[in-house]
Amino acid sequence: MGYREIYAQAATDPDAFWMAAADAIDWDRAPTKALFDQNAPLYQWFSDGMVNTCWNAVDRHVEAGHGDRIAIIHDSPVTHTKHEITYAELQTRVASLAGALAAKGVTKGDRVIIYMPMVPEALEAMLACARLGAIHSVVFGGFAANELAVRIDDCTPKCIIAASCGIEPGRVVHYKPLLDGALELARHQPEFCVIFQREQEVAHLEEGRDVEWHGFQYGVDPAPCVPVEGNHPAYILYTSGTTGQPKGVIRHTGGHLVALNWSMRNLYDMNPGEVFWAASDVGWVVGHSYICYAPLVFGCTTIVFEGKPVGTPDAGTFWRVIQDHKVKCLFTAPTAFRAIKRDDPQGALVSDYDLSSLETLFLAGERADPDTIEWAQDKLGVPVIDHWWQTETGWAIAGNPLGIEKLPVKIGSPAVPMPGYDVHILDEGGHPVRDGELGAIAVKLPLPPGTLPTLWNAEARYRKSYLEHFPGYYETGDAGYKDADGYLYIMARTDDVINVAGHRLSTGAMEEVLAAHPEVAECAVIGVSDGLKGQLPMGFLCLNSGSAMGAEEVIADCVKLVRQKIGPVAAFKLALVVDRLPKTRSGKILRGTMVKIADGEDFKMPATIDDPAILDEIAVALKGIGYPKKTSR
Ligand code: COA
Ligand code: AMP
Repeated sequence: MGYREIYAQAATDPDAFWMAAADAIDWDRAPTKALFDQNAPLYQWFSDGMVNTCWNAVDRHVEAGHGDRIAIIHDSPVTHTKHEITYAELQTRVASLAGALAAKGVTKGDRVIIYMPMVPEALEAMLACARLGAIHSVVFGGFAANELAVRIDDCTPKCIIAASCGIEPGRVVHYKPLLDGALELARHQPEFCVIFQREQEVAHLEEGRDVEWHGFQYGVDPAPCVPVEGNHPAYILYTSGTTGQPKGVIRHTGGHLVALNWSMRNLYDMNPGEVFWAASDVGWVVGHSYICYAPLVFGCTTIVFEGKPVGTPDAGTFWRVIQDHKVKCLFTAPTAFRAIKRDDPQGALVSDYDLSSLETLFLAGERADPDTIEWAQDKLGVPVIDHWWQTETGWAIAGNPLGIEKLPVKIGSPAVPMPGYDVHILDEGGHPVRDGELGAIAVKLPLPPGTLPTLWNAEARYRKSYLEHFPGYYETGDAGYKDADGYLYIMARTDDVINVAGHRLSTGAMEEVLAAHPEVAECAVIGVSDGLKGQLPMGFLCLNSGSAMGAEEVIADCVKLVRQKIGPVAAFKLALVVDRLPKTRSGKILRGTMVKIADGEDFKMPATIDDPAILDEIAVALKGIGYPKKTSR
């Protein structure tokens, strides 16, 4: 069957389609049906099944005789180490860690925050939680103590598992002091913290609160897998919204397993035993779904890569990893390829390696620009597949389903909706627009299995953020269009979220930090185009009248503040002081127009603008810092 037949099957009889997909999962009690819609527009999948994620990701492969197969390869150019863990070893390690957590009282439904760099122990911690039915929440290492504290207070973990440090090129990231700092800020305190001591930095342990990763496992019994309901939360993953308060996306266990397992064969064209590499970070959704869960549930080998596409040591690192570990499918963000292309424009390093194992490159996380796609196609000689998804959906909304049939690639489009996603392009009033016309991208409810059922402790916010604007639909927050063949084109966000090096960030959160500076009377943050990272945040600051501080001093302070409060990942380095911000007559800051001026694009004078002269002032100020720039894209 081809894509169109399979898509139609899922649309006409979703229950039969997803129940068939669910057969590939080991259930402790099989679900009686797929979709549970009695609380529509809140939907759930496989709610009455009983299942364990860790069993499906680890134990069942050992039981099936694949214990010697490599489950995880840790390749770490930043520590000059590589090692492999078989499925049998992984089972022992995860059962032991889960046993130690259980001995300290962690049980089904408890939350556990994981704050770790790209080490296999991060995956083991996730799987150990899954083994017990505990709900993990992984926090990306590039976030500062304050962001960690916000997450601690929101999900109130019983335990936090952290590493002593992470390694960024040229510097050690001191995870433990960041954790201690977060716990000083947080109202909620965990009962205990487990610290994985790395040899690059041994952290001080707080007596009575902190236990050491190996020491606390000593002498405990390994834990068995605890079956949980299909609608039991597997994890909470925080993502940026319009405000400084991140949204806690929940993933239910049953749908997560079914959808990810389905995607491995049908979208990524993988077979068990093959090597899948998602070059991302466990702190992001790509890391949850395609570094940890999907490859393991499907019985593949996954790579935990602790390095960067460039500089560790050079732009040939990705090719070396593909060669050394016989990677079949690489999945990364376009920004990684832009970084490689910048350092090695001719792709000279590609020919130093044997890339014969590589069959496909998948890109996601941000818009894949045609130059990058064409460069990758040319240098690697494999299909380059753009696919579009979000933290909320957990797997692709649109893609080119290589395992079903390879549809023609149209550069600039992540191809077609995956089964279960009924994607529509709507105007402001919620009416469908014509093919080729830009509109808000919305998905008719219900979303398929594996997508978010709601937000952690914030059902009202879930409804308001995603369901209210277009009743009966899930609002993606992206704008784009569809062509006559049903291919989607994702063009921009409709909210204040920006995408910096494939990382989703909230300009609203940055504005909250800047506004707290005592000399800042008013501010706005926008995302300006950047040749490497896609977008960069840029802050506009209006100072208090008669401010005693100079503009340069306030800017330096603000850059430091955002790094301290949000983290280095915000990459907030551009700011300028202006007298006034352009606004509508009702006081709304015209951020979209500011973006156009900074990017050197034509714009229409907003009809509701209060004082058009301010736009000239903004243009002059931008010129002063070299904007608009000629980008390399
Ligand atoms: N822990 C601590 N700090 C981190 C971090 C982590 N896990 N990840 C990034 N940072 C820091 C970086 O060191 C950098 O700090 P600096 O300002 O002191 O230099 C800052 O956060 C910004 O990081 P990043 O945006 O990653 O920029 P970079 O210049 O270090 O690297 C790329 C640029 C393009 C090479 C890099 O972003 C990359 O490899 N991207 C791949 C895309 C990706 O993984 N996307 C995830 C979703 S698929
Ligand atoms: P995140 O939740 O961090 O995965 O970010 C999701 C957002 O990244 C989406 O809503 C899009 O704005 C953007 N995005 C992800 N993949 C793509 C893609 N293939 N093309 C365009 N934008 C994308």
